[in-house]
Amino acid sequence: MADDPPTQPGTRRMARVFTEGRGGETPGIPMSYEDLEAAALDALSPEAYDYVAGGAGGEDTVDRNREAFRRYRLLPRMLRDVAERDLSTTVCGTELPHPVMLAPVGVQSIIHEEGERATARAAAELGMGLIASSAASTTMEDVRAELDDAPGWFQLYWSSDHDLARSFVDRATDAGYEAVVVTLDTPMLAWRERDMQRAYLPFLDGDGVANYFSDPTFRSRVDGDVDEDPEAAVDEFLDVFSDPTLTWDDFAWLCEYSDLPVVAKGILHPDDAERAVDAGAAGVVVSNHGGRQVDGAVAALEQLPDVVDAVDEEVDVVFDSGIRRGADVLKALALGADAVLLGRPYVYGLALDGASGVREVCANLLADFDLALGLIGHDDVADVDESVLAD
Ligand code: FNR
Repeated sequence: MADDPPTQPGTRRMARVFTEGRGGETPGIPMSYEDLEAAALDALSPEAYDYVAGGAGGEDTVDRNREAFRRYRLLPRMLRDVAERDLSTTVCGTELPHPVMLAPVGVQSIIHEEGERATARAAAELGMGLIASSAASTTMEDVRAELDDAPGWFQLYWSSDHDLARSFVDRATDAGYEAVVVTLDTPMLAWRERDMQRAYLPFLDGDGVANYFSDPTFRSRVDGDVDEDPEAAVDEFLDVFSDPTLTWDDFAWLCEYSDLPVVAKGILHPDDAERAVDAGAAGVVVSNHGGRQVDGAVAALEQLPDVVDAVDEEVDVVFDSGIRRGADVLKALALGADAVLLGRPYVYGLALDGASGVREVCANLLADFDLALGLIGHDDVADVDESVLAD
C-alpha cells in the first residue's frame, strides 16, 4: 500500500482483494468490525480482551457511542464526477494524507509482543498519523523512530509530579512529535467492572510504563534502582500517574510552556471547548475515551455539533469514540470534525497479526471511507459538511 498513489485507495484495494480471491485467497483479517472483535476475543488473553473491549461501569456509554452514529443518515448525490478523490487535510498544523489518525492506546505489550512498535510500523507504511500514548510499553523516542516520516503527536497523561509532566513534553519535542495531546478526562482511572472483577491492572505487571521508567525525573524519584527494583518503581508510577487537582490554569500554563501545539482530548461540553480555546489550545478532541471513563455519559458524537459551534472555527476539532467504518468517518466529518481517531479496531488488528494486522484494518477502513466519499457524490474531504446528511 505504501507505494500506492494518494488517490482512490478504495478502488485499488477492492480490486486487489477480488484479484487475490481469483487465486483462492480471502482476507486473513476480518472485514467486518464485529468479526474482527470476535476474532480478537479468541486471540487475546481474557484479561487483555476485557481491558480493551471494556468500559466504565455497565458500559452504557460504550453502547451509546455506537447508537449515536445510527441516528444520522447519509444522503447520496449523483453524477458529480467522483473518479479522483482527495482525502488529504491539515489538522493543528500537521499535514495528513487522510483525516484518520490512530488514537493513543496504552499498554500495547498486552496485545502483541511487538506492541507499539508494530502499530507505529503500520502507520509508517500507510503514512498515517499516530498519537503515541504516555502509558506505552515502548518509549516515545522509539515509537517516533518507528514512525519514520509519518506524522506523530504525543499524548500526555499529566502526572502529579509537574516536573515529570514537563519532562515528557520536553522529550516529545526533542523526539520530533508535532503536537502534544493532553488527555483531560482521566484525572483518575474509572470504575471498570471487567478489570475490577479480574483484579487486573496491566501497570502492576510493569506493562505500559516505558516512558516513566526511562525518564530521568521519574528515576530520580524512585528510592534505589528502577531496573533492579521494578516493584518499587511501579508503586512510584501509581503514585504519580495522574493529578486530580488540575485546573484550567494548569492547562493554560502548558499551552504557554509548550513549543508544540497543545490539543485538549476528552472535551464533551461546549463550554469546556471554549475554555480550552481561551487557554491557548490549538485543537480539541471530542471524546469520551471510548466509554471508558464515565458510565452513563453522553455519546461523544452527540456533543460534536455543539463543540464545533462553540469553537467557531478558531481551532481544529478532532473526534473519537465509536469510529468503526468509513461511513462513521463521513458522519463525523459531516458534523464538523476535521479528523477522527481510530481506537479499538486497530488494537484488534494488532492482536490478530501485529503490524500487518494493524495495516490491514486501517487500509480497509480507509478504502471503505474513500469509496463512501465518492458514492455520496464528493471528491474532496474538505467539501464534506452537514449537507451530506439527511434532515
Ligand atoms: C484507550 N484510550 C486512551 N486514551 C488516551 O488518551 N491515552 C491512553 O493511553 C489510552 N489508552 C487506551 C487503551 C485502550 C485499551 C483503549 C480501548 C482506549 C482512549 C482512546 O484514545 C480513544 O479515545 C478511544 O479508544 C475511542 O473509542 P473507540 O472508538 O476505540 O471505542
